[in-house]
Amino acid sequence: MDGDRQSRLLIGKRVALGVTGSIAAYKAVSLLRALTKAGASVSVVMTKAATKFVTPMTFEVLSGQAVTTDLFEAHHEMKHLSIPEQADAIVVAPATASFLAKAAVGLADDVLSTMLLTTRCPLIIAPAMDGDMWTHPTVQEHVGTLRSRGAIILDPEEGPLASGQIAQGRLAGEFRIREAVEQALLPRLDFKGQRVLISAGPTQEAIDPVRYISNRSSGKMGYALAEAARNRGAEVTLVTGPVSLPVPAGVLVIHVTTAQEMAAAMSAHFEWSTVVVMAAAVADFRPKEVALHKLKKGAQAAPTLELEPAPDILAMLSAKRTSQILVGFAAETQNLLAHAQTKLVAKGLDLIVANDVTQKGAGFGSDRNAAVILSRTGEQQPLSLRLKSEMAHDILSAIVQFPRTIQGTNSPTSVS
Ligand code: C5P
Repeated sequence: MDGDRQSRLLIGKRVALGVTGSIAAYKAVSLLRALTKAGASVSVVMTKAATKFVTPMTFEVLSGQAVTTDLFEAHHEMKHLSIPEQADAIVVAPATASFLAKAAVGLADDVLSTMLLTTRCPLIIAPAMDGDMWTHPTVQEHVGTLRSRGAIILDPEEGPLASGQIAQGRLAGEFRIREAVEQALLPRLDFKGQRVLISAGPTQEAIDPVRYISNRSSGKMGYALAEAARNRGAEVTLVTGPVSLPVPAGVLVIHVTTAQEMAAAMSAHFEWSTVVVMAAAVADFRPKEVALHKLKKGAQAAPTLELEPAPDILAMLSAKRTSQILVGFAAETQNLLAHAQTKLVAKGLDLIVANDVTQKGAGFGSDRNAAVILSRTGEQQPLSLRLKSEMAHDILSAIVQFPRTIQGTNSPTSVS
């Protein structure tokens, strides 16, 4: 049954339900019931005005979770950051004219409006207000602004309003709102037909049979990219250095150890690919000679390691590319943007993801990362601290939006 199919879409999803101060706030109680019944875990955030219509306790009992109402309550532990970070979708129902105005201009003076600025997950807004307010040019302008930024706004329905008027202003029906949430959570398949080649993890360069030179890369960013690209419909090949992460299902995984092996695997799949993302932390230098036997400590002085450059895989691929989009990473400890810009040009890349690995809570080994995406065409997109799984989607979206201007040809959208 269709109803059953739709219900399954919400199982295990995390929805943040924003309730603002409209008389229709009581309908949010029933919406919460419908969402939780469909399997979603719902965190409710109320504006102060909303609490005048329905008590937080009602939502608390029905959602089984604490309700957030105040940006300044100590025990809320930065809920304006943690709720949206964990949410798969945010639904604001009912949304007042005041809320629409705040959301449109980015005025962040309570938990709900602040949350909107800290998330990129789908936003569904169901306004409810008096008919004259809904049709007011200011409200319509805000609705237009929010829609142009990707928010899904469910026009209110016509009928008797609290004011006694019969006009357009009633909160969209519960079924419509639930359906909009389900639609927003449907997987994006904007990488369908694309063949994405990703490298991940460190490389290990042998010194002798038991020792090697390596780095702190965990592979988490590259693996997150592989999973996100797969989920968005791509065929994915992941060339990975030694890491301790589970192999992602539905992805062709090639295990390598050295930069040389990674270069060979990447080259072998390069022609096949349409998008290449080098997230691996490849060795820049390797021992010139690998000792046949374990180096012994003893009477002699400590051995001196002579190093030679390892192959620069990206530069090599860039030199032989046809129409692939090439994306590199720049893990820097200083002068982030300047160094990344130099690499973008030197390696002939389309995009480079520059991350400051000294930033607390980000970078090597962490589940989170903060970065700036620089493009060959001069755009800069800062990505504040977020989960690597989330950042993977942001990087893929930047790839989708990147104009392909390779070898003089200029088609509007590279991946669609
Ligand atoms: O020059 P740097 O190593 O900082 O450049 C980083 C980017 O180049 C990353 O995308 C990394 O995967 C790639 N790289 C490479 N081959 C190397 C070193 C780095 O492809 N030998």
